[in-house]
Amino acid sequence: MKKTPKERIEELVKLINYYNYMYYVENNPVISDYEYDQLYKELVELEEKYPEYKLPDSPTQKVGGHVLEGFKTIEHKIPMLSMDNTYSEEELLEFDAKVKRMADVKDVDYIVELKFDGVAVSLHYEDGEFILGVTRGDGFKGDDITENLKTIKTLPLRINYKEKIEVRGEVYMRKDDFEKLNKEKKEKGEELFANPRNATAGSLKLLDPKIVSQRNLQIFIYQGFLNNRLKTHWEVLNFLKNIGFPVSPYRKHCKNINEVIEYCKEWVEKRFTLPYNIDGMVIKVNSLDLQRTLGTTTKSPRWAVAYKFPAEQVSTVLKDVIIQVGRIGTLTPVAVLEPVRVSGTTVSRATLHNFDEIKRLGVKIGDRVFVEKSGEIIPKVVKVITEARTGKEKEIPIPEKCPVCGSKVVKDKEEVAIRCPNIRCPAQVKERIIHFTSRDAMDIEGLGEKWVNIFVDKNLLSDYGDIYYLKYDDLIKLERMGDKSVRNLLSAIEKSKTRPLSNLIYALGIRHIGIHASEILAEEFKSIDELKEATIERLSTIPEIGPIMAESIIEFFSNEENLKVIEKLKKAGVKMEKEKIEEKKDILSGLTFVVTGTLKNYSRDEIQNYIKKLGGKVTNSVSKNTNYLICGEQPGSKLQKAQELGVKIISEEEFENLVKTRMNK
Ligand code: IVH
Repeated sequence: MKKTPKERIEELVKLINYYNYMYYVENNPVISDYEYDQLYKELVELEEKYPEYKLPDSPTQKVGGHVLEGFKTIEHKIPMLSMDNTYSEEELLEFDAKVKRMADVKDVDYIVELKFDGVAVSLHYEDGEFILGVTRGDGFKGDDITENLKTIKTLPLRINYKEKIEVRGEVYMRKDDFEKLNKEKKEKGEELFANPRNATAGSLKLLDPKIVSQRNLQIFIYQGFLNNRLKTHWEVLNFLKNIGFPVSPYRKHCKNINEVIEYCKEWVEKRFTLPYNIDGMVIKVNSLDLQRTLGTTTKSPRWAVAYKFPAEQVSTVLKDVIIQVGRIGTLTPVAVLEPVRVSGTTVSRATLHNFDEIKRLGVKIGDRVFVEKSGEIIPKVVKVITEARTGKEKEIPIPEKCPVCGSKVVKDKEEVAIRCPNIRCPAQVKERIIHFTSRDAMDIEGLGEKWVNIFVDKNLLSDYGDIYYLKYDDLIKLERMGDKSVRNLLSAIEKSKTRPLSNLIYALGIRHIGIHASEILAEEFKSIDELKEATIERLSTIPEIGPIMAESIIEFFSNEENLKVIEKLKKAGVKMEKEKIEEKKDILSGLTFVVTGTLKNYSRDEIQNYIKKLGGKVTNSVSKNTNYLICGEQPGSKLQKAQELGVKIISEEEFENLVKTRMNK
């Protein structure tokens, strides 16, 4: 008999959720992509036609809801600890011996799982429903990222269990999705993510769940806090799987530590066949009673340990050495290699760190060398195979001149680095600007490495202060810069003027001052001017700002060139002070806005929230009481209405200017 629409919808939801589960969790696809797409399309169409039958756990519901203003901080009732690491068979045997000694038992069985390389989260369910998801944060409190987590296809919004329950797991991004994301970013000229873990963390921090849903994040659950009579971790995992959680199929119950070691070894090579990264294995005492007996230290449980994989070392030929010049002029030798597969990707460059390292390795051009990926990210040369020498290998010369500007290099007294002392060196200029525009600094979208190089070469930029004086007429002349991209870039630059003080401090590129130190300085000082005037005594009293950092700050602000660039930023209207939220709050109070058409920099939700945050009112239709109609591309009938009523019509840019002038009053 033919199914009713309601029945078919129910069936499709079950089927698609099952196919997602088999594909993402079990790593065992059971239908083709084409068939999957057909079923998904059928479901979308049926739900459109019969919205009354739409189910809360429908896969179509995972596209992300409203834009958020920020994340609430949530305390973890049970702290989220970290884990001790082991790197060898011996250390695993030691762990086993210690467990037995502390618990005073002869035999211990273990559960071994994969160590997923992602971001830890805690999920809370009540009455079978997903109600709260929190990041690990500092282990004691994290961010409420519920809405972002709801976009994860394999995260159940409902489970088959009514009691209150907390589970923990790892959110991650598959390697193929990571590569796709970085490809898109590259095309847009945006900064790339270094690895899938960073991409996951970055995605979970986004305030727009719709964008998060496009990132196709995944999750595995590996821990559950249950108030029932289960006695072992193995039973907990099976229970979690049965009530609907995505539990990885790759886990093993090992009778003793030798079986543990066997299983860990099995995965050393096999890990590269997985569609996602793992950075080791996790070994857990199976008995929950024994886990309780062993307890935890302040940092980590005594009943679990991570086994980190040895980095894969592969041999190849070092064909040449090129010199890169960094932001502060440091010359870094980089090995050009015969391309080779290492830990799942093709490597053709590797860092040699500095010239002392070249001496230490004794490496020459033409040598056969071993390379590995430290932390699986940046490859490095670790060893020379001297036995393979033919006698034709050539010494690597230590440069006396900067390869970019030709200045004579200097060697810092206390450091091993060789530096180019010319702060106008184009290589340094480029790197400083790239740093300035990067995500944790001024976050100027669209102004990545590619365009910075072009702008510097074309003399449009000679320092980061120039960014704010780029003109439409100059940019539009450049190849591959159309009207739309120029406008987008200029508005991204405009938007960056109001970044928080900590971002600006970081963006300045003061030596030894990273993001964390910048945040501390922004807490301590009200403005760049105040920081500029700080004495070494005052800087030395700030916790976590050490003497090297303090000196570096003094040196930065005593350099005339740097002061000139800061003046340029100031003149261009870059905000140099800390945000005063209370004062800012009401700058649009008493004003009513209506929005029509598509805006460039804001979604509808974003602009509405922004206006409300600044004390303004937003309504849906134009009336006598409307003060401004913000008009984007392809406006609707509201435009005509506003014209009829004589309501002031402004563009997005004019709106931003209005905010700015009121903000500065
Ligand atoms: S269990 C530490 N199991 O590793 C308390 N953790 O280094 C118990 N991780 O923050 C954690 N895969 O994010 C556990 N199968 C797994 C894991 C796993 C990855 C992460 C987790 C934790 C970190 C500790």
